[in-house]
Amino acid sequence: MRMRRIAWAADYLTQSPSRILNPEEKIGRWKKERPDGKLHLEIGCGKGGYSAAMAKLYAKDTFAAVEKNESAAGLAAKKFDETGLENLALIYGDGADLEKWFKPGEVDIIHLNFSDPWPKKRNAKRRLTAPAFLKQYHTLLCKNGQIIMKTDNPSLFEYSILAFLEAGYAMEEISVDFRREDHPEDPLTEYEQKFVEQGKPIYRSVWNNYKK
Ligand SMILES: C[S@@+](CC[C@H](N)C(=O)[O-])C[C@H]1O[C@@H](n2cnc3c(N)ncnc32)[C@H](O)[C@@H]1O
Repeated sequence: MRMRRIAWAADYLTQSPSRILNPEEKIGRWKKERPDGKLHLEIGCGKGGYSAAMAKLYAKDTFAAVEKNESAAGLAAKKFDETGLENLALIYGDGADLEKWFKPGEVDIIHLNFSDPWPKKRNAKRRLTAPAFLKQYHTLLCKNGQIIMKTDNPSLFEYSILAFLEAGYAMEEISVDFRREDHPEDPLTEYEQKFVEQGKPIYRSVWNNYKK
C-alpha cells in the first residue's frame, strides 16, 4: 500500500521535539533517563500509533521508533508530540543504519509490526527479517533480548520463521490468530486495526537472542 504524500511532513520533521535529529549522538545513552526500564525499538513504525500507545502503557520503558518514509515519519512525529510523552522518540531514517545509533547490547526488545512483505525474490533482502537485518539485531540486542513480529502475511511469516531459526534465535511464542483472544498488553497498530476489521488473522512470533 503506497502512502499518500503529506506536504507538511518535511517541515514538521525539522522542528518536532520528538524527532531525534542526530540519533548517533545518543548511542549508548538511550536509557539514561530510565535506566531501570527496557529500551524498545520499533522498526517501520508507520504513523506511530503502536509506539505511542506502548509508551503510554509502559511509562518506565523507553521507546525509539524508526521510519524511513518522510510522510509516515511526519505523521508519527506529530502523533508523538501530541502525546507529550518523554519516553518516546522518532528516528527518521533507515533500519539498515541501526548500528550507527545503538550500541551493541543496548536494545531490550525489537518490534517488527506488519513489515513490508517484498514478495518478489529479488527484493528479499529488503525484508526486515532478511539475514542481514537479523544479524544486525543480534548485535544490538542484549542477552535474552527479544524480537516480536506481527504480520497479516503468511508468506512473510513463513519466510521469517526460517530466517530466525537459521540465524540462531530461539522461538518463545507463536500464534497464527493472535487477536482471537484479547491482548490489552499489546496495542493494535494502524495496519493491524484494518486487518482485524477485515477479519484477517494476525500472525505473531516472539524470538529470544539467547545465544549472545
Ligand atoms: C506496512 S507499513 C506498517 C506500518 C506500521 N508498523 C503499522 O503496523 O501500522 C511498513 C512501514 O515500514 C516502513 N519501512 C520499511 N522498511 C523500512 C526500513 N528499512 N527502515 C525504516 N522503515 C521502514 C515503511 O516506510 C512503512 O511505513
